[in-house]
Amino acid sequence: MTTLIETTDVSKAYGSFVALDRVSLAVRAGEFVSIVGPNGAGKTTLVNLLTGLLVPTAGHVRFKGRDIAGAGPVALAKLGMARSFQLVNVFPDLSVRETIAVGVVSRLGRSGAWWRALKRDRAVHESVERVAALFQLGAKLETRVATLAQGEKKLLDVARAFALSPEVILMDEPTSGVSTGDKHTIMRLLVDGAREVGVQAIIQVEHDMDLVEEYSDRVIALQEGRVLADTTPDAFFKDESLIATVIGKRH
Ligand SMILES: Nc1ncnc2c1ncn2[C@@H]1O[C@H](COP(=O)(O)OP(=O)(O)OP(=O)(O)O)[C@@H](O)[C@H]1O
Ligand SMILES: [Mg+2]
Repeated sequence: MTTLIETTDVSKAYGSFVALDRVSLAVRAGEFVSIVGPNGAGKTTLVNLLTGLLVPTAGHVRFKGRDIAGAGPVALAKLGMARSFQLVNVFPDLSVRETIAVGVVSRLGRSGAWWRALKRDRAVHESVERVAALFQLGAKLETRVATLAQGEKKLLDVARAFALSPEVILMDEPTSGVSTGDKHTIMRLLVDGAREVGVQAIIQVEHDMDLVEEYSDRVIALQEGRVLADTTPDAFFKDESLIATVIGKRH
């Protein structure tokens, strides 16, 4: 299988504090990888390195063979990578339609203002409707983002990332702050949505072990900035001390 993302001995220090310590991993096409670990293990730091938001202190991060250290979201979206955030930072005054359109317009490379493209451009319009339908937001297209429930905001942030039609999508706790019942709905929608738009690999940070077990085919466990395990869900869930480490320090 093609390697899409690769890190070699990547480290990240904030001042003198080492948040990630020589992490090497490779993610191939077809994989759904869950990154797990206690609070402060370095999961978000890893996602920020993998998405070019942070520059590593040492080591390399490559996406499709290119070094992407600090590349930033616009360049990475063009290369085929999109992400959603742990803390959703959607614009509260935009509507659901406008929020998704920002992603669609940048994918289609339309010049000029996205809101003009939204009104006049049929391809943009159709693409927004399709992504909204995929994530069951079709009935909420005119709703102001500020008034959405937490779960809907999370879903919208994921939908916005999907609107870029990425090859790889990274999600930092896509179901945090969402009720248990809704978590499964969201995961199903995003797994089905990924197939629909041709996403080749999913990397998610996830605290909910039920979701890790049910949806991912690989688990990377971090502890204090190091890779503790990189294995199958089967092997992971058989290892009680590993699970205790991963969930032990939750608050
Ligand atoms: N900008 C920063 N400056 C200094 N320290 C930071 C910074 N960002 C993160 N850290 C520290 O680095 C460590 C790893 O943080 P990170 O956010 O990657 O953890 P996490 O595994 O995502 O945790 P959580 O489960 O709480 O989201 C933590 O100890 C955190 O306090
Ligand atoms: Mg985090």
